[in-house]
Amino acid sequence: MTQVNLGTANEFIARHIGPRAGDEQAMLNSLGFDSLEALSASVIPESIKGTSVLGMDDGLSEADALAMIKSIAGKNQLFKTYIGQGYYNCHTPSPILRNLLENPAWYTAYTPYQPEISQGRLEALLNFQTMISDLTGLPIANASLLDEATAAAEAMTFCKRLSKNKGSHQFFASIHSHPQTLDVLRTRAEPLGIDVVVGDERELTDVTPFFGALLQYPASNGDVFDYRELTERFHAANALVAVAADLLALTLLTAPGEFGADVAIGSAQRFGVPLGFGGPHAAYFSTKDAFKRDMPGRLVGVSVDRFGKPALRLAMQTREQHIRREKATSNICTAQVLLANIASMYAVYHGPKGLTQIANRVHHLTAILAKGLTALGAKVEQASFFDTLTVAAGANTAALHDKAHAAQINLRVIDAQRLGLSVDETTTQADIETLWGLFADGKTLPDFAALAASVQSTIPASLVRQSPILSHPVFNRYHSETELMRYLRKLADKDLALDRTMIPLGSCTMKLNAASEMIPVTWAEFGALHPFAPAAQSAGYQQLTDELEAMLCAATGYDAISLQPNAGSQGEYAGLLAIRAYHQSRGDERRDICLIPSSAHGTNPATANMAGMRVVVTACDARGNVDIEDLRAKAIEHREHLAALMITYPSTHGVFEEGIREICGIIHDNGGQVYIDGANMNAMVGLCAPGKFGGDVSHLNLHKTFCIPHGGGGPGVGPIGVKSHLTPFLPGHGQMERKEGAVCAAPFGSASILPITWMYIRMMGGAGLKRASQLAILNANYISRRLEEHYPVLYTGSNGLVAHECILDLRPLKDSSGISVDDVAKRLIDFGFHAPTMSFPVAGTLMIEPTESESKEELDRFCDAMIRIREEIRAVENGTLDKDDNPLKNAPHTAAELVGEWTHPYSREQAVYPVASLIEGKYWPPVGRVDNVFGDRNLVCACPSIESYA
Ligand SMILES: Cc1ncc(COP(=O)(O)O)c(C=O)c1O
Repeated sequence: MTQVNLGTANEFIARHIGPRAGDEQAMLNSLGFDSLEALSASVIPESIKGTSVLGMDDGLSEADALAMIKSIAGKNQLFKTYIGQGYYNCHTPSPILRNLLENPAWYTAYTPYQPEISQGRLEALLNFQTMISDLTGLPIANASLLDEATAAAEAMTFCKRLSKNKGSHQFFASIHSHPQTLDVLRTRAEPLGIDVVVGDERELTDVTPFFGALLQYPASNGDVFDYRELTERFHAANALVAVAADLLALTLLTAPGEFGADVAIGSAQRFGVPLGFGGPHAAYFSTKDAFKRDMPGRLVGVSVDRFGKPALRLAMQTREQHIRREKATSNICTAQVLLANIASMYAVYHGPKGLTQIANRVHHLTAILAKGLTALGAKVEQASFFDTLTVAAGANTAALHDKAHAAQINLRVIDAQRLGLSVDETTTQADIETLWGLFADGKTLPDFAALAASVQSTIPASLVRQSPILSHPVFNRYHSETELMRYLRKLADKDLALDRTMIPLGSCTMKLNAASEMIPVTWAEFGALHPFAPAAQSAGYQQLTDELEAMLCAATGYDAISLQPNAGSQGEYAGLLAIRAYHQSRGDERRDICLIPSSAHGTNPATANMAGMRVVVTACDARGNVDIEDLRAKAIEHREHLAALMITYPSTHGVFEEGIREICGIIHDNGGQVYIDGANMNAMVGLCAPGKFGGDVSHLNLHKTFCIPHGGGGPGVGPIGVKSHLTPFLPGHGQMERKEGAVCAAPFGSASILPITWMYIRMMGGAGLKRASQLAILNANYISRRLEEHYPVLYTGSNGLVAHECILDLRPLKDSSGISVDDVAKRLIDFGFHAPTMSFPVAGTLMIEPTESESKEELDRFCDAMIRIREEIRAVENGTLDKDDNPLKNAPHTAAELVGEWTHPYSREQAVYPVASLIEGKYWPPVGRVDNVFGDRNLVCACPSIESYA
């Protein structure tokens, strides 16, 4: 009898990995290796071989992993929550849940750097910007920041940069701000020498010491204050005013821009995004036109395409980290695009009337609640409020919390004498009556209907919103589910995401985001938990995060992990703060030099600047490696002040540098700490471990190596791993044991997407993870070998091999044919591909990272396209194709240009069907090549009028 395999272990591995067994051998043969082990043995430098500490356990089947995580999720308890404090229950409209949040066409897309294949999500983001701009009354809004607290910190440094009170280092922060915002402000201010002065703005007599101020609107405790006069006083003293505002409240309240605020920031969470134990949610940032060029984050702008038609794109991309590098004041890169798009569609779906209706309902329910509480003898502190009340319960406070918990209700803990209540979109009459019941103490409950008939809005007349909101047609035409569903489909169809094609973006690791990994994300047990719910209710999250931390320690060789940072940039920041605090703890305050190789990602120098460090750039040699002698010389020169080295490994040049151990040794010998940027961890898991070959701290991009989808530009998770001596300096949080040093608003940052990584690791097991790294290396080397005779591969190791990505040098082609890296990237769109990373880390190059998830068939399709493009370039070189009017210069070609007169010296077929296989499944870009210069010169960052599309 044949032996039947009754087990299901490891069955997911082959589903995650692209190449099939026979293909794998053929690919290895093409590289001259007989096994994957032999290939990795050749790629991984001798000095770091064997450093991996990952156990080789089996992977769970998808069904088993889902069952296991379901039981973990079940340990979270879902109490009815009135905590508020910046996080509110809301309904994610079902068509948005299903057609956007759970739709790979939206969640597997990349940041829209290639505008021609991103018009759909760019439009959704432009709607977001328009919505923010409308509600806040400030004309320029960006396409999301990470959370409200970090947005407040961005606002603080923005004010510092732009305020005319140049000598001032003091920033006023209202005592009425959310506590988590104040915590992050303090963290971010200290390294920059900014003094955050927290106080009650009503008692502020002298505003002259400040360069800026943060006010909360409505206040965290619920009060609605009129900040007009105060804003004028700050302005008279040359200070700028930032207002943290609640978007739903703004449908009823005078917009911050209308009372003079310079900046508005806040969270878009309650516009349809689940609480998710704190994240991910989109924060927003809007400002006055005069300050637009100093905005942190990404900005969608309207430009024109080759045919003069409106086309969207990311505007002013070369600001901040790219150009300013170590002078950049913001390091934000990955943001919260998917969540911004959910919020934007929430506004599209509900429209101005629907949103105002929700806000009015919330406000009136709160007013009814307040009246009833007062009738029951409770002392409500607010006369004017939107949705939040503070009750001075005195000695009764603790007993009320106990009573609430017994009824599975959470109230906000303020202090021993007071508690808070926030009403939201999900609150009902029955909920209000239940709340009254907590306070009734045997008294008869008030009559809801009678109170409902008599309550009035409590918003002061001077603050009642007069200006209209969301008048653009986009917010007024998709209110039926059929219309919204089709709008979302129309936008998704304009874009290329991983559900259509490989996205070979170097340094971005666009691998499979498996459905089984994604499924738990939208379970209520993970989605509906408030981040500040009592710890006993989040036992499931506790188990999940404990297990994940252990898994990530095993994958990296570090001793401890913090899951708090909600993007790679924030991980970098938390890591450098840990290094800084470590030096300080040893009395080494003067250590403030951060060495950074010239090839570093722009976030590295920007982060060093934000952490109060001085950047010294070190050189790279002709092979793309760190110039060790230059590094040594600089480490020695600055030995008294050396704080850290930030180095990416394998390098941003796509190579495992052989000298990495020596490099780490040089830094340690001179008193510094080694920060290994783990963006390229996908080449290392199971093969070598940064925590074991010299790193003191690394961030990981879970949205690269560990399968969290990019969401069109976020969310992400950027946990840091540290060696034990840095453990005491990991980020803290008001809700954690270590209170100080928060880098994010929520203790676990983007907690609700951590199940994705948990699922990936459990389904792959140690052996599967190692195999993923090996296949990522195999796929990259296969591409590099197939393409090297057509395009020079810029850097390889001494063995002629690359790591998990390769850089093609297109500079010589520019000289020989006039064809640029841009032309090739755009021509790839005609072949149905997303372009590789352009001009990073070397201008005029393409960096290709295929990941392990792409099959040989897809790799070959890509290589065939690249080879075909090379032939077209050759035709330009030898004059067969015109040097200006050719398929490369005119790429990408749209369907619209095929009709009517065709004037090009090459055929329509060559333009749009350069290979026959495209006839079966062609991607048609909705716009021609987008004009970047026009867009930056004529900056329009909100929805243009419909007429302009004519
Ligand atoms: C090498 C490197 N470091 C840091 C980052 C920043 O990570 P994030 O975009 O998650 O902030 C990136 C992002 O692409 C990167 O490639």
